Amino acid sequence: MRIFITGASGFIGTAVVAELLAAGHEAVGLARSDAAAARLSDAGAAVVRGDVRDLDALGRAAADADGVLHLAYDHELAFAGRHDEASAADLRAIEALAAPLAGTDRALVIASGTLGLTGPGRVAVEEDRATPAPGFGARAASTDAVLRLAATGVRSAVVRLPPTVHGDGDTGFVPRIVAAARASGESADVGDGANRWPAVHRRDAATVFRLAAEAAPAGSALHAIAEEGVPFRELAEAVGDGLGLPVRSVTPEQAAERFGFLGALVALDTPASSGRTRELLGWTPAEAGLLQDVREHYLAPVA
Ligand SMILES: NC(=O)c1ccc[n+]([C@@H]2O[C@H](COP(=O)([O-])OP(=O)(O)OC[C@H]3O[C@@H](n4cnc5c(N)ncnc54)[C@H](OP(=O)(O)O)[C@@H]3O)[C@@H](O)[C@H]2O)c1
Repeated sequence: MRIFITGASGFIGTAVVAELLAAGHEAVGLARSDAAAARLSDAGAAVVRGDVRDLDALGRAAADADGVLHLAYDHELAFAGRHDEASAADLRAIEALAAPLAGTDRALVIASGTLGLTGPGRVAVEEDRATPAPGFGARAASTDAVLRLAATGVRSAVVRLPPTVHGDGDTGFVPRIVAAARASGESADVGDGANRWPAVHRRDAATVFRLAAEAAPAGSALHAIAEEGVPFRELAEAVGDGLGLPVRSVTPEQAAERFGFLGALVALDTPASSGRTRELLGWTPAEAGLLQDVREHYLAPVA
């Protein structure tokens, strides 16, 4: 299959490109800069130059493909608190990608997240539906829109990722947790640290995107979750042991000071499962788990 990928030069997108090529597909990646275009070419992908806001370019590239994987998202806007703008731009991109696919049964698969699917402590499952809400919850509008596209003859699917997609090149939450431990001289968790975070390695997540492009039925919500819930205390211990720092429980207020915008997330109990996805796609995660990956790859001395 010839598959068009937005976000192909990103942390997960580069693993998706490698996964597609290894499975014999043709990968065509969107690149907004010379650097991203060079990275994609070096990896063996074809390149479409453009910004994800360039709706004509998105439509043309989707029309020219057997399937589309949409991973780009304007994190800069979202992390600046402009969630509504980021979500609205994403919806426009999805509409542009979907228009040429209507009635073709070709795949349109988007990336999303498991955060906010359920209340605290309940394991989020594929059948759960997030309702659009202020803040990070605004993005649920994209998920809704994509699942509804099934009625228009698009083989639409959403791949929900855990907050901790880990692996080489990670610049997300775990490196920030490690940096906070280095800066404060102790590895912290909140309360008893029993709250759980789900996790997946980026290469295992990439396999879910490939399988979804190949075979997910229209309207599928999929979970790229390898580990249902790693207790935060165990993550704090892995970081503390590896850096030779004590592990200490802090209050939610201290967590906000120490972890910045991550402070509220550090205390979340947000497990998620992937039983339906494994059964539907025949997916079995094969890469290192979060704690092993952290011990082996996240704690090298800084120069
Ligand atoms: N990583 C996680 O833990 C995690 C967890 C949950 C959900 N997700 C979702 O999974 C998807 C991929 O995440 P990631 O970690 O791989 O993100 P990432 O490393 O930040 O990569 C983002 C990608 O989107 C591209 N992009 C951003 N704005 C663009 C624009 N205006 N025009 C064209 N391309 C643009 C970037 O291009 P450049 O290379 O040019 O910057 C890059 O290829 C995202 O939708 C993200 O929200 C990730």
